[in-house]
Amino acid sequence: MGSKKELTQILEDSLKNNQNYYKQGELPNYIPTLAKADPKAVGISMVDVEGDFYSAGDFETNFTIQSVSKPLVLILAILDNGTELVFDKVGVEPTGDPFNSIIKLTGFAKPYNPMINAGAIAVTSMIKGKDNEEKFDRILKFFRRLAKNDELELDQETYLSEKDTGDRNRSLAYYMRDQDIIEGDIEEIVDLYFKQCSIKVNCIDLANMAVILANQGIDPVTEERIIPKKIARIVRTLMATCGMYDKSGSFAIEVGLAAKSGVGGGIMAEVPERFGIGVYGPTLDDKGNSIVGMRVLKELSEKLNLSIF
Ligand code: DON
Repeated sequence: MGSKKELTQILEDSLKNNQNYYKQGELPNYIPTLAKADPKAVGISMVDVEGDFYSAGDFETNFTIQSVSKPLVLILAILDNGTELVFDKVGVEPTGDPFNSIIKLTGFAKPYNPMINAGAIAVTSMIKGKDNEEKFDRILKFFRRLAKNDELELDQETYLSEKDTGDRNRSLAYYMRDQDIIEGDIEEIVDLYFKQCSIKVNCIDLANMAVILANQGIDPVTEERIIPKKIARIVRTLMATCGMYDKSGSFAIEVGLAAKSGVGGGIMAEVPERFGIGVYGPTLDDKGNSIVGMRVLKELSEKLNLSIF
């Protein structure tokens, strides 16, 4: 595969080759704090299943995890409730619709999948805990464990910004309660969802999380099983089929990796038995995926022969 220096050079080159594509995307303004990011920022970290790191660019820059939280909270919800109960409430099929679409909620028994907002909110509603404080604490601790970073914290400003502007998410949640898909206090449920989305991470954190998935649920350094193999497989599959929303098909062709994007500009991707990857570039395509992040992953997939297909 080449030396550590060679791979670091490949990462640096691919950032350089693709950085300018940031101009083709836009910073999201529907959550006002996200529009404050530096549009030119770009970073990447990769960690292999031996635990070695390779990084380039703004890999230590913090951004909010946003929808990359969805597969992670899904894991916790399945651990809390079991696979059957979770997928009784949320489907496993791609939508071909935008991530916050309400279209396929009406007339269907449950949200299509856990990667779109409706499905993710239903999943969040299943997290166990005596109150929201305890539930959020469990989510944060789980993310810290996956990222091997006890310093992960909530970005208060983004959380408040989401809370202020989150009426689409509220409407998805109220509709789902009306349809008996979810139960409980809607303000509390969306509050927990806004908080999970507003946890600050960097590329190393995402790479660390992803390598556990790449290694079928086992931390490659401590060799501790963090996620049961079956759950890891389900979540990786949902990332591969639904993780990039209505771009999941072309991403599968061009990159060929299980990945999850977030409107904070991060993408978490995993290469089975090889790498966890975290990439960051805050301007987004019209589907809410990092423009530069996808370009960089495409180049790396071609150069390092990463596609699973
Ligand atoms: O609920 C929202 O709209 C955001 N908190 C998360 C959406 C998101 O990250 C979509 N991803 N690319």
